[in-house]
Amino acid sequence: MISDIYTKYTAFEQEELLEKIRISTSEKRFKHVLAVQETAIILAKRFGGDVGKASIAGLVHDYVKERLDEELLRVVYENNLDKEIIAFGNNIWHGVAGTILIEEELGVVDAEILQAVSVHTTGSDNMALLDKILYVADFIEPNRNFPGVEKARELVKVNLDKTVKYKTKHTLLRLVENEAKIYPKTINTYNKYVAN
Ligand SMILES: [Fe+2]
Ligand SMILES: [Fe+2]
Repeated sequence: MISDIYTKYTAFEQEELLEKIRISTSEKRFKHVLAVQETAIILAKRFGGDVGKASIAGLVHDYVKERLDEELLRVVYENNLDKEIIAFGNNIWHGVAGTILIEEELGVVDAEILQAVSVHTTGSDNMALLDKILYVADFIEPNRNFPGVEKARELVKVNLDKTVKYKTKHTLLRLVENEAKIYPKTINTYNKYVAN
């Protein structure tokens, strides 16, 4: 039974969990996380990943994205998280600090799910299958609409690693284009999955 994954991986039944996430997110983001969940399930089935973990990871991955900066920074300090992330803003914080709050508030303790959430925006130089599934699902879910998303959707029909490569390159190009700071872990992802 698919609903069992909620009590298996979180402290809540499906309905309660969805409500907690719904009230923590804007309407648009709630729609996004539901779509990432659906997409992650499809990718897990396609590439032999754990469907239950992919489903929960998709649902919770942006749980703290709309928290105030002060709260996320407090989490970084109180939990002795890597201080390097402080200079990089919400885009980086909501994954790393998110894992702490997802565990505390939603009862998610599975190490693979937490890791996938932690690296969902940056990737890493050692991505597990679940990490890749969430990283790619977040990029291609059906509500996404940016130049290049169709190419990514085509790629992922056949090859997950090539899609990881595509997203990483696309993200870095955009960061450079905007002269944005680049988190070192994103460079590590590039060196591992893009560079020859
Ligand atoms: Fe995110
Ligand atoms: Fe997301």
